[in-house]
Amino acid sequence: MRRRSQLYVPGNNEHMIRKSTELEADSVILDLEDAVPADRKEEARQLIKRLLGELEWGKREVAVRINSPSTKEGLRDLALLADLDVDLVVVPKAEGDLSFIYRSLGVPLEPIIETARGLAMLEDVITSEGVVAVTYGPADLALSVGGQASRYQRSEYVRTALVVAARAYGVDSIDSVFFDLKDLAGFEAECRDARALGYVGKQVIHPSQLPIANAIFSPSREELELAREIVQAYESSAAKGKGAIRFRDQLIDYVHYMTAKRLLEDYGEGGQG
Ligand code: COA
Ligand code: MG
Repeated sequence: MRRRSQLYVPGNNEHMIRKSTELEADSVILDLEDAVPADRKEEARQLIKRLLGELEWGKREVAVRINSPSTKEGLRDLALLADLDVDLVVVPKAEGDLSFIYRSLGVPLEPIIETARGLAMLEDVITSEGVVAVTYGPADLALSVGGQASRYQRSEYVRTALVVAARAYGVDSIDSVFFDLKDLAGFEAECRDARALGYVGKQVIHPSQLPIANAIFSPSREELELAREIVQAYESSAAKGKGAIRFRDQLIDYVHYMTAKRLLEDYGEGGQG
């Protein structure tokens, strides 16, 4: 399962939900939380229930973002999901152990770290049963700690902590949304930076961001070719007892070999050209 792009779609917008079945998103996240006004939550639940029974999303992963499970709206969302068939539950304001959600619904989870407690308890959140991916919300995190969103949007600490914890426990790390819909160059730069940190994908809010995220989080043909050559060169010299080699005037040893091997395993021949 690749999660290069995860598109948020407001759960009360029938046109956008229908449209999402044709868009090139790896995951579609039908939102019941912040994209839906407080007095429209029930309407959105009923709409999602109706459209899930009717529409086909093909290979796309279909997710629902619930309200925080420690609110009444969140409990109502969980009750809805008990009767629906979705691929993933996105859990906002995740704090502590979320295993009870997975145990009751049997659906994989993607927590959003966006509160002080969530960040302080990052490991408990990520190691909850059923967690397959993790993301974060800089604006809510800033609110939670009494800071500014613009500052947390470029927090090296939070971005790195997330991706390190995700790798440590074998779950996907997904970079947070980029709000400036006109600034596609800025969006692309943020995707490249996230990939360089180790993120595997990005949450997106508009169709125009999808092709960019999909391209940046897929290896290029050149990257795949280089990885194949590194694997070959390393394996043939390792067979002769040599674990460090000169490859195009660069040192290649086990870590470079493993990085290349992982790229091929994750993307194989399926990378974009
Ligand atoms: N999912 C599916 N379709 C979307 C979409 C989305 N997130 N965002 C836009 N579209 C569709 C529009 O309906 C429109 O379709 P049409 O051409 O068939 O009419 C087309 O893409 C172009 O949209 P555009 O007019 O540029 O967008 P907008 O100005 O109407 O909407 C937003 C801008 C930000 C309100 C909208 O993109 C959106 O609601 N995004 C998701 C917000 C969200 O879920 N936030 C919660 C997580 S942060
Ligand atoms: Mg949030």
